[in-house]
Amino acid sequence: MTGPAGSTGWRRVVAGFSDTADNYAASMAPSLRTMAVAVVQRAQLKVGERILDAGTGTGIGASAALTAGREVIGVDAAPGMLAIARREVPGARFVEADFAALPFPAGSFHVVISVHALHFAEDPTAVLAEWRRVATAGGRLSLSVPGPRAALSLKLYNPVYRRHGIRRRIEIPTARKLSTWARAAGWGQVRVTADPTTVIRLAGPDSFAIWMRSGSRSDNRSLSPERFAALENDLLAATPIGPDGLLHIPFGTLYLTARNL
Ligand SMILES: C[S@@+](CC[C@H](N)C(=O)[O-])C[C@H]1O[C@@H](n2cnc3c(N)ncnc32)[C@H](O)[C@@H]1O
Repeated sequence: MTGPAGSTGWRRVVAGFSDTADNYAASMAPSLRTMAVAVVQRAQLKVGERILDAGTGTGIGASAALTAGREVIGVDAAPGMLAIARREVPGARFVEADFAALPFPAGSFHVVISVHALHFAEDPTAVLAEWRRVATAGGRLSLSVPGPRAALSLKLYNPVYRRHGIRRRIEIPTARKLSTWARAAGWGQVRVTADPTTVIRLAGPDSFAIWMRSGSRSDNRSLSPERFAALENDLLAATPIGPDGLLHIPFGTLYLTARNL
């Protein structure tokens, strides 16, 4: 599986996140906090549990999971994102690593959480098996990814990208595919629910410009400044304004919970 925008592998995606981490923290992360809180609620965390936040980025999942009496470790391969996480969430520990090859012994965590990171995996079933390896017997998994497809910005933005001669290949799992990956990785009691109403909220054109220069969208930096500006203008024009007066980028969420039986 490839990441968004026809990327050439997870290392390139991660480098995009790392290089533009401040932009991510200012644009995307505040909206993903809603999904992070929902992931943590679904994980039903208990006092004394040890929790892994896989693909922690700037640490919003780790932050939502952290309370007194819980040990939270966030893993990400992007040092730029981790620098912000360490600053923002001093009570958690952050480790730079590929989440497909975790530097922890088997059975290290009672719970694995992950917020909007699994869809960047090249082999999601292998990654979910690795997350199961580090879970205790009976341990839980709670994660989110964007979806379902119909709830994303594809319908709005794909015609714009096409007009600009850019072909995007975005692989977002269906609910069925997501649960198939988890079952194939050995997880039991797999449940997937969809919330098509979640959105990325941006205050206006300035925030939109920051969002355009963050994460995997930073792939667009290979365009000339003129072509980038034209694309940005057209994407902005295609973005709806919500009842709160903010720009709303459609970005539904699939939530998965499972248990290591
Ligand atoms: C959309 S961000 C989500 C970050 C955070 N969970 C949040 O909700 O704000 C995806 C994160 O996954 C990380 N990532 C992608 N592939 C990875 C891999 N193979 N190993 C570790 N981190 C990875 C990226 O570096 C990025 O920080």
